[in-house]
Amino acid sequence: MKVAVLGAAGGIGQALSLLLKTQLPAGSELSLYDVAPVVPGVAVDLSHIPTDVKVAGFGRDDLNGALTGADIVLIPAGMPRKPGMDRADLFNVNAGIIKVLAEGIAASCPKALVGVITNPVNGTVPIVAEVFKKAGTYDAARLFGITTLDVIRSEAFVAELKGLDVATVKVPVIGGHSGTTILPLLSQVEGATFSEEEVATLTPRIQNAGTEVVEAKAGGGSATLSMGAAAARFCMSLVKGLQGEDVVDYAYVEGKGEDAPFFAQQVRLGVNGVSEILSYGELSAFEQKAKEDMLATLKKDIKEGVDFMAS
Ligand SMILES: NC(=O)c1ccc[n+]([C@@H]2O[C@H](COP(=O)([O-])OP(=O)(O)OC[C@H]3O[C@@H](n4cnc5c(N)ncnc54)[C@H](O)[C@@H]3O)[C@@H](O)[C@H]2O)c1
Repeated sequence: MKVAVLGAAGGIGQALSLLLKTQLPAGSELSLYDVAPVVPGVAVDLSHIPTDVKVAGFGRDDLNGALTGADIVLIPAGMPRKPGMDRADLFNVNAGIIKVLAEGIAASCPKALVGVITNPVNGTVPIVAEVFKKAGTYDAARLFGITTLDVIRSEAFVAELKGLDVATVKVPVIGGHSGTTILPLLSQVEGATFSEEEVATLTPRIQNAGTEVVEAKAGGGSATLSMGAAAARFCMSLVKGLQGEDVVDYAYVEGKGEDAPFFAQQVRLGVNGVSEILSYGELSAFEQKAKEDMLATLKKDIKEGVDFMAS
């Protein structure tokens, strides 16, 4: 298994690479790419951890070297949010970065499974899709926006509120990956019920959890450690799927377009990426209204990505 991390020297990139060095199956390769000159050092540092995962660092001019032969590519490259900015503010900077990296993937490893972390995910994933379409390599089953951070935050907050074992709590989260487009389905949490007041408080807490971190870091960036853990967890789901295990997880994917062209939902993963998009089932009245209310925003975010590539 070869996994490439693009933006590997950053806050998320380093946390994620550390976890992958210790979690990938024996015999795997971890390929670290960044434009920051520290990236070979990050690779050397990680290579001193005694696991059977080979690490190599690739600088600015060697994107092709980092990507050739990759089974999975994870992209946390780009600018993080500062206090006062929302994810959409990042669009102009990160759209250009994501476009160049996607062009590299189309050229060097067009069959890889690609997980996008760079925000705003609602718009950066459509950019990658458009780049791949232009290159003639697009396969919707192989492209994912990583929304696992919304899932793990929901698990942590629900377990804390309800006094449940956090290792067993499962919270479906659907929609997109910014503000109100993040929709936790609290009505479907097994072993817990929520009052209307709890739903009205917990839902926005999950939606704004990124801002909680940005404000607490006071100008020092956005979520990196929890995001590293989330991306490693999602990567391990992709790895298991590639190894032929039956695995389901949540991700922002191009589906049947019933709600929006891209939508986060539960998917079954296999040797070719998404093998099945699973229904999110019945929503409560609160969730149904929240879903209907956020679709215009989500569709606008998606169109922004598509329009960026058309212009
Ligand atoms: N999906 C999520 O849930 C989620 C959560 C938190 C943050 N993010 C996003 O992840 C991104 C990274 O956040 P971070 O905190 O790690 O930022 P960071 O600034 O610590 O790291 C970003 C890294 O990207 C590198 N980079 C910039 N341009 C590049 C390019 N063209 N090619 C390769 N590498 C490049 C930088 O050199 C840097 O090392 C941001 O866009 C942030 O908003 C996503």
